[in-house]
Amino acid sequence: MTTDLSWCDLFIFREADRMLLTHPLALLSLLLVVHASSPLVSPSVRHEFRRNLPSGWTPVRRAPSTSVLPLRIGLVQPNLDQIETLLLDVSHPESPNYGQHWSPEKVASTFRPSKHSVDTVRQWLYSEGIAVSRVKLNGNGGWIEANVTVHEAESLLMTEYHVYEHADTGTRHIACGQGYHLPEHISKHVDLVTPTIHFDIKLKREPIGSEKRDHGAKPGVGKSIGQPGSGVVIPKTTGFIKHILDELSQCDQFITPNCLRALYNFIYVPLAANKNSYGIVEYTPQAYVPEDLDLFFTNFSKSQVGQRPDLVGIDGGFVQSSQIGFGFNGESNLDLQFGMALVGKKQKITLYQVGDDVEGASFNNFLDALDASFCTFEGGNDISQDGIYPDPFGGYQGPEDCGKVKKPANVISTSYGYNEADLTPAYTARQCAEYAKLGLMGVTVLYSSGDFGVAGNGNLCLNPDGSQTGDGKLFNPSFPGGCPFITSVGATQLNPGANVTDPEVACEQVIFSGGGFSNYFPIPDYQKEAVDSYLTNSPPPYPKDIWNSTGASRAFPDISANGANYVIAVNGEFSLVFGTSASSPVVGAILTAVNDARLAIGKTPIGFINPTIYSAGFRDAFNDITSGTNPGCRTFGFNATEGWDPVTGLGTPNFPKLLARWILLP
Ligand SMILES: *[C@@H]1O[C@H](CO)[C@@H](O)[C@H](O)[C@H]1NC(C)=O
Ligand SMILES: *[C@@H]1O[C@H](CO)[C@@H](O)[C@H](O)[C@H]1NC(C)=O
Ligand SMILES: *[C@@H]1O[C@H](CO)[C@@H](O)[C@H](O)[C@H]1NC(C)=O
Ligand SMILES: *[C@@H]1O[C@H](CO)[C@@H](O)[C@H](O)[C@H]1NC(C)=O
Ligand SMILES: *[C@@H]1O[C@H](CO)[C@@H](O)[C@H](O)[C@H]1NC(C)=O
Repeated sequence: MTTDLSWCDLFIFREADRMLLTHPLALLSLLLVVHASSPLVSPSVRHEFRRNLPSGWTPVRRAPSTSVLPLRIGLVQPNLDQIETLLLDVSHPESPNYGQHWSPEKVASTFRPSKHSVDTVRQWLYSEGIAVSRVKLNGNGGWIEANVTVHEAESLLMTEYHVYEHADTGTRHIACGQGYHLPEHISKHVDLVTPTIHFDIKLKREPIGSEKRDHGAKPGVGKSIGQPGSGVVIPKTTGFIKHILDELSQCDQFITPNCLRALYNFIYVPLAANKNSYGIVEYTPQAYVPEDLDLFFTNFSKSQVGQRPDLVGIDGGFVQSSQIGFGFNGESNLDLQFGMALVGKKQKITLYQVGDDVEGASFNNFLDALDASFCTFEGGNDISQDGIYPDPFGGYQGPEDCGKVKKPANVISTSYGYNEADLTPAYTARQCAEYAKLGLMGVTVLYSSGDFGVAGNGNLCLNPDGSQTGDGKLFNPSFPGGCPFITSVGATQLNPGANVTDPEVACEQVIFSGGGFSNYFPIPDYQKEAVDSYLTNSPPPYPKDIWNSTGASRAFPDISANGANYVIAVNGEFSLVFGTSASSPVVGAILTAVNDARLAIGKTPIGFINPTIYSAGFRDAFNDITSGTNPGCRTFGFNATEGWDPVTGLGTPNFPKLLARWILLP
């Protein structure tokens, strides 16, 4: 936040102009009154700004002043400075409190913004003419919300709203491009305000033709968000089918659930399925096709024909069926077909379908739904925990507004991502803290690491001024890959001609495993030794200014799994897909089995796994990947090496070894 008085002055000028036109004397007296009523008036500060718009966006016109915006003010949360310590306390294998996850109520009360923050921001809104009845505090007390007109928002935030349009997709978005302001005495109670400078919307391509079919082959920014193997779908042929009759001998060409079981020694029958849960997140209009699930199951998991995921729709989320095609169904079909087949018939999968098919949604919509659950939590941990451990922080206990996700799943996999540079540091920090809260509650949060090697989605690289272009030269890390409180999953492959028992290498077919070093997040303790050792033993020979070479930033991915040649059913045909999009749900299925085994013997879920998987005891529980690279930004990218590397992380899971170790933890 930089102080920027000129904006404040400018604003007063504009107001003055308008009022002078109507009644010059009224203005003079008003200004005097306002100044007399200090401390309500304080200098304005520029609260957030961005140097560049995310790639592809341009302003097309001023936003109509009467348009209504769902203004949300994210309040500063207490105790966030301790969140890493608190999370390690329940997640580090050597901590005496390992596995003693928090109840949602304890999480909510620990980080609930103070009553003082709530009151101060509310008073400011009232004093600016937003009626009391229009101002609401959300369920966990973290956001103040009000529907305001563009005119009101411009006045509150001393900015101008424009309509922006995305060149490749035609998607429109209202934002105040460069920055916004808050009075100084409000700024210190606020993390961020939306919608302002954040372009966190999911890009949608315009459906092609009247049947709304999408044969999407056009490369572009939108295409690569959450798309498995963008634009490289190989439709099935009759010859193709004959070739995978002997599955295991052809895993180098066709990955099926049996190939993955063979690769990771993943044979497991659930014992505690009704206590366990595995959630897969999809963003509308991405949707699975029920008939495709059955087609896939008919070939690869017969007993599951007819089985469906349990749908939890968030913010209007439903399984839309009006738009079909690979671009609309590929991702969801991939995640669910492999996720469901790998956990097997006994273990139900929860599908978190986020957003309606008009507006779509962002990660924050999903996180809000989990947050709202803080008040309705019933299963898992002991609800009396609050009584046993009274809230030591004395947070504000406002009325609670209960949401529909009663208890988040134990493992949640998401195969969508942004480039870190698309988002502002304040925005990513707030979202990253939400992942830490999920970790405190014992949830494992997995994200695919991206499909463009050291480049970002859409093969974009950074320029020194922070903009992203195809000809940029600086490595472009993904988000939330760089958030230290999620587990980032990269991609591997079997080399052409390799036997399923041969070692895998980094994925170099069609996609390259996303990996590198964050420019926003410092390195977490759990990762220091692994990253130091990589930088010492295999120092990348690149100029220090094309990647974050400080050794002080969060590095990713953490682990990896096969991401090449997945056989999936899409719109009645089998296709081959590629991507870290495939790797993440596979790792999720394996960790769900580990949770099952622990739950079956009365232990807690594994929760936030990073401190554990980087610990000495787990060092040889992965298949280390030591060959292959992740090119991007006109370089060869990084090398997969012995030990952790920014291509495949610690390696792929060796299920029996991981299970044996996790069973022994308290
Ligand atoms: C804003 O308007 C929407 C749509 O009418 C409504 O659902 C929502 O509850 C309103 N929000 C607030 C904070 O009043
Ligand atoms: C699916 O099963 C059918 C019937 O057994 C078979 O003809 C076809 O080749 C299989 N397809 C694939 C991709 O394995
Ligand atoms: C893979 O190699 C092993 C050991 O050499 C061999 O026993 C097995 O038959 C091979 N598997 C396939 C599917 O070719
Ligand atoms: C590198 O990462 C660190 C820690 O995340 C950050 O403070 C620094 O600004 C980054 N450097 C660049 C050039 O972005
Ligand atoms: C990768 O390994 C090759 C061969 O050893 C080496 O020439 C190259 O510099 C390494 N690249 C990086 C980024 O470490």
